Amino acid sequence: MSTPGAAADPAIAPPLVDEDGMAAQLGIDIGGTSIKGAIVDLRTGQLAGSIHSAQTPGTATPEHVAERVRQIAAAEHWTGSVGIALPGVIVGSCLHHAPNLSSAWEREGALDRLRMPGDGDVVLINDADAAGLAELTYGPSGSSDNGLTVVLTFGTGIGSALLHDGELIANSELGGLVVGAGRFEDVASGRAISDDELTPAQWAERAQPYFDQLEAMLNPGRWVLGGGLSEKFEQYSSRLKLSKPVDIAHLGVHAGIVGAAAAVKRSGLPAA
Ligand code: BGC
Repeated sequence: MSTPGAAADPAIAPPLVDEDGMAAQLGIDIGGTSIKGAIVDLRTGQLAGSIHSAQTPGTATPEHVAERVRQIAAAEHWTGSVGIALPGVIVGSCLHHAPNLSSAWEREGALDRLRMPGDGDVVLINDADAAGLAELTYGPSGSSDNGLTVVLTFGTGIGSALLHDGELIANSELGGLVVGAGRFEDVASGRAISDDELTPAQWAERAQPYFDQLEAMLNPGRWVLGGGLSEKFEQYSSRLKLSKPVDIAHLGVHAGIVGAAAAVKRSGLPAA
């Protein structure tokens, strides 16, 4: 992994152009713990270069986070459009429901801080929606017809995306579901696992009532689980008792980056 300021591996990232004329795309995933970005090959959803990763600044303010984002773009010498995934709900120029970032993101104009120097447009998307879009676009069964797919990402928070009939239904925020013990993301996120040193069995015991509630309310045909824990998540998710199939997110921990890049393509902006 490289850090902002470090040069990308020059051996990778040849010019890429797909059949629609879209080329490689920079995607950046802002999380409560880290900010990661990479060039994505939009034909395949694979990373086309090394990942630039930096800790989210302690203040997590729009100014400081935007500075890291610009460092990543600069490290790639990127001047085109940028896709950015954010851990909250995007409403106009503010970010709501982002408990893992500074409350300053709630202020009018906060998202304007993410503008890039030069002409590059910025396309913003919720981070879990980005993971869902990545799954939809590049996952093996992304658009298969089995009713509603509920994507849940377990990281610093719990994010969600709903996929139906090949479409993303954005801004679902299922991590905010309240059942007996409190909010889903407060008791069963990746952060809760590490802070409370939960074993897979302990985690499943906490998480099960939330899944039961979601099954009762949404009747999903399939679950896709991912996020920061993707690589070892199967140990946890296999303990759950669910009535419908569970897949581990195909794009793993990179799903936010890939989905952020895919959001630029979906927006119809021209290639870099
Ligand atoms: C935010 C969601 C986000 C999730 C995962 C939650 O705290 O409210 O918008 O998707 O964290 O980052």
